Amino acid sequence: MTTQSIHGEWSSRLAFIFAATGSAVGLGNIWKFPYITGEYGGGAFVIVYLLCVAMIGFPVMMAEVLLGKRGRASPVNSMRVLAQEFRQSKLWILLGWSGVIAGFLILSYYSVIAGWALAYVPQVASGIFVNMPAQEVGVVFDTLVANPLMLVGWHTVFLVVTMVIVAGGVQGGLERAVSVMMPALFLMLFILLGYAMSTPHFIESVHFMFDIDFQKLLYPNGEFSGDGILAAMGQAFFSLSLGMGAIMVYGAYLPKKTSIAQITAAVVFADTLVAILAGLIIFSIVFSNGLEPAAGVGLVFKILPVAFGQMPYGSFFGTLFFILLVLAAWSSAISLIEPAVAWLVETGKFTRFSASIFSGIALWLVGLLTVFSFNIWSDFKPFFDKDLFTLIDYLTANIMLPLGGVCIAFFVAWLMTRKSVIEELEMSSDSFAYHLWYFLLRYVTPIGVCVVFLNAIGVFS
Ligand code: TRP
Repeated sequence: MTTQSIHGEWSSRLAFIFAATGSAVGLGNIWKFPYITGEYGGGAFVIVYLLCVAMIGFPVMMAEVLLGKRGRASPVNSMRVLAQEFRQSKLWILLGWSGVIAGFLILSYYSVIAGWALAYVPQVASGIFVNMPAQEVGVVFDTLVANPLMLVGWHTVFLVVTMVIVAGGVQGGLERAVSVMMPALFLMLFILLGYAMSTPHFIESVHFMFDIDFQKLLYPNGEFSGDGILAAMGQAFFSLSLGMGAIMVYGAYLPKKTSIAQITAAVVFADTLVAILAGLIIFSIVFSNGLEPAAGVGLVFKILPVAFGQMPYGSFFGTLFFILLVLAAWSSAISLIEPAVAWLVETGKFTRFSASIFSGIALWLVGLLTVFSFNIWSDFKPFFDKDLFTLIDYLTANIMLPLGGVCIAFFVAWLMTRKSVIEELEMSSDSFAYHLWYFLLRYVTPIGVCVVFLNAIGVFS
């Protein structure tokens, strides 16, 4: 068994926490969480999300880190090595590949959305939002997404920078950038929270997010739908970067003698905190301006500039905020494509550089599907009455990631020997925490995911 990955190791536990938090915290927390919370009516959605994070996401993240730490390579090769070690079918390599595909598909649209954030940097800096009425702020967003050329332009900028970072190797530059940027983002969120608390409807946003009303989640239009619960679970996987090998790769760079539980807890805590703060901030502004929480994908982009237009030094804070959001998106984006690039390199046919160019071009092309789904192809709904962006998002976040997560849980909890599991965890095998984790992973994760899937196709209605 190898003890160190060929790519090196994190310099400290903290370095891992920063990198994994950098992967987890991104558009998922600040853009996606508030808008789907708004769409599914708040309270009940949030509580289901938090339950999924605690009972499924947390244990699966520990398991994913554990697999990487044992496998010491890219997901595809980690799974190959581990299947061999534990005498399992070679087909486990498919788990690695499904991760490569899911990460690729997610990044193809992630880059387009990050492009919106990029487009907002010069807009906010120019001061156009100062004292602009909320309705007009909404129009600025609608005008942006109606313009395919603009979207393609910013999508290109975001991808080029992403691939340059990936080509240059993740270690040095990124590790350092992330460790400055994460604290800055937290600070910015607390400034915005201060502003949100000063708005007249802050308490209403607390109620919106934490008053539990299952009626709204399960019977959104009077008829039963399991979609809200599926979306909450999918969001837990998406926000924590689980189920496709990103966290596995990061686990591969952990020094052998590191215990997994605490560092995972730190990442889960930071990720959840950012999402909840973002929600509170956004809904305060929504209610204080008499706007609609269910505004869809544009929510954050229609709401935050309203606040920046009203608060003192708003253009400055706003510019800083969108810059930080883009940086957070970059540190997530590189983890989405790393498994694909690492795998291409491992085939022996690519250098890191050519693999980055190749994946960059492919991502750019597939990203066009998302770009056009917001304008010229917005009526093209090939399956399930969903446009292309919604379809890719649904397929990856709600289906591929949870399935990947179940496979990860199954491998660790049912196929690996207890002895090796404990070895990698660096945790006492008679502690309560260990038994709880093992139980969650063994039973709650697979059964929970199955129940949510069956519920979504209407089996329990
Ligand atoms: N978690 C990131 C976010 O919230 C997105 C992300 C990065 C991701 N790596 C991932 C999602 C791996 C799923 C799987 O924005």
